[in-house]
Amino acid sequence: MSLRKKAHDLARPAKKELEKELEKELEKTRKEADQERLAKEREKNKRKTRGRTFLIQHCIDKFQYQTYLEIGFGHGKNFIPIRIADKTCVDPSPWAGLQNRHIVTMSSDEYFKSHDKKFDIIFIDGDHRAKQVYKDMLNSITALNENGIIVVHDCFPPDERKENAANCGDGWRALCFLRKNMDLDIATMNTDLGLGMIKKRKNQTWLNPHEGPGQLVKFLSNDEPEFKLLYYGILEFDNYRVLNLLSIEEGLKWIDGKNEK
Ligand SMILES: C[S@@+](CC[C@H](N)C(=O)[O-])C[C@H]1O[C@@H](n2cnc3c(N)ncnc32)[C@H](O)[C@@H]1O
Repeated sequence: MSLRKKAHDLARPAKKELEKELEKELEKTRKEADQERLAKEREKNKRKTRGRTFLIQHCIDKFQYQTYLEIGFGHGKNFIPIRIADKTCVDPSPWAGLQNRHIVTMSSDEYFKSHDKKFDIIFIDGDHRAKQVYKDMLNSITALNENGIIVVHDCFPPDERKENAANCGDGWRALCFLRKNMDLDIATMNTDLGLGMIKKRKNQTWLNPHEGPGQLVKFLSNDEPEFKLLYYGILEFDNYRVLNLLSIEEGLKWIDGKNEK
């Protein structure tokens, strides 16, 4: 019989006693629910605050980087708070319509064609289609200082619908293709829709081009990437292998690892 029912059926003094007990029990349940909600919120915030800005600033502070390039300004949510001696953002039409000395108003392709400046850290977050992300990656590798790092946003779209260019795009396919390159070490931190990370050092987790689903093997066997060969199911099926997916903690260790090159 429930406490509420018992309380109703009993004589007054005993009823009062039981009502108190009932109130205590309810209070306990409320507190537990609150605790659970707070724990969930904390976890969510942790994930939010340890996103792209956190990772980029971590690298800048850790390695005392001096020069930063961001491809794709958007509303400046990431670019504005970044603290570094020298920062540049390239975007043909920044959403905020903002113009200042740090923003170069042109596409990433035009920028790389007309500038040969080198950077310690480059963040790719412009046109999210695999073909353009791949171009941005290759140009960024050329423009990257030896001990630098490239960070690529949106490499782990949460579902197939988010693969369109207005959302995450399919840049993960470009990252996957680069993973068969022996001279680049590549991983993805599982936060903020997947942060791809590229360092110029020996590839520690080479993606074997002869293993995995047929379409993936075919994709990796080509010299030039044919992005249409991949589909979301391949990422969903084995994201750890395709992206070298790491938790935030594992990702930070990966970044801090010694360059072997
Ligand atoms: C998702 S927003 C960038 C968000 C921003 N990086 C952040 O973290 O808040 C994408 C931006 O990329 C820009 N963009 C699109 N194509 C580009 C290209 N080819 N080169 C550089 N920027 C491009 C768009 O104009 C848009 O402002």
